[in-house]
Amino acid sequence: MFDPISPFGKPISDLFIFILILGAFVFLLVFGIVVYAILSSRRRVRNGEEARQIFGNNRLEITWTLGATALVIFLFVLTVITMNTSDPAIVSADQQNPDVVIVGHQWWWEYQYPKAGKGADGRPLVTTANEMHMPVGTKFVAKLEAADVIHDFWVPQLGRKMDMIPGKNDNYLTLQSDKTGELLGACAEYCGAQHAWMTIHVIVQSQADFNNWLQSQKQPPAAPATTSSIGGNPARGQQIFLQNTCINCHAISGTTANANVAPNLTYLGRRKILGAGIIENTPRNLQDWILNPQSIKPGVKMPGYQFSAEDIKDLVAYLEEQK
Ligand code: CUA
Repeated sequence: MFDPISPFGKPISDLFIFILILGAFVFLLVFGIVVYAILSSRRRVRNGEEARQIFGNNRLEITWTLGATALVIFLFVLTVITMNTSDPAIVSADQQNPDVVIVGHQWWWEYQYPKAGKGADGRPLVTTANEMHMPVGTKFVAKLEAADVIHDFWVPQLGRKMDMIPGKNDNYLTLQSDKTGELLGACAEYCGAQHAWMTIHVIVQSQADFNNWLQSQKQPPAAPATTSSIGGNPARGQQIFLQNTCINCHAISGTTANANVAPNLTYLGRRKILGAGIIENTPRNLQDWILNPQSIKPGVKMPGYQFSAEDIKDLVAYLEEQK
């Protein structure tokens, strides 16, 4: 948060730094007076005098009461100004049609892009998990929802945090990044065992790159090949995926898998992380994850699966080859 790259993050960072400096001055002032009182009283006592008695000194009491009050009022005014500049009002057009709907789940993030259109079932055509893409240099309005318990979306470089509350679906957050690159954030509201592993990965792209990404996410992945550069048979892996209980929770567009209980796995091979950031997305890690996710992220809602060596290889190939 000391390195804001957003017009909505900058005012928060500026205010925080200002209050830190002001607080340091107040601390030094109080500390200095205390030290002075101790030293001067000790000198008097050594000289056989009584320490100076200032109890009931109206002038001093009024000074420190009014001084502290004025300081707090000053900070209050600065805070109200910052609240306005860091959190612009959301116009109703953006409420009707936000750029992204972010849903907090135990313990991962769902990102829906309603502007890319909806399918026949009324659900957004582009839904992804744990890695949010957004264009650089423009307002990006997010609607925040929760699927189970309270979560909190916070990317410090982008500005304020905001709770996502089950049943309260009118929380909006205006995001904007003035730099491309990858930003990190975290869930900022304790939400259970794996609260710490709900990391937020934001990929800020040029508008053209973002449009390309959105367009390509919209198209279902190509039919899987029968061979793969990482070994295994993706086409057979797809059959394994569709014949097992994977499809009770996960969706992959262009297939019969359309459950939205767990992360949408469409184009999983494009992602850099698994398990909301706990491991990198590599074939080896994905295999370990499918066989025994509890050993990697205890408490995760995904059960472990028993697969033969050949089956797991094909399944991993299918998921990773969707790029
Ligand atoms: Cu989600 Cu803490």
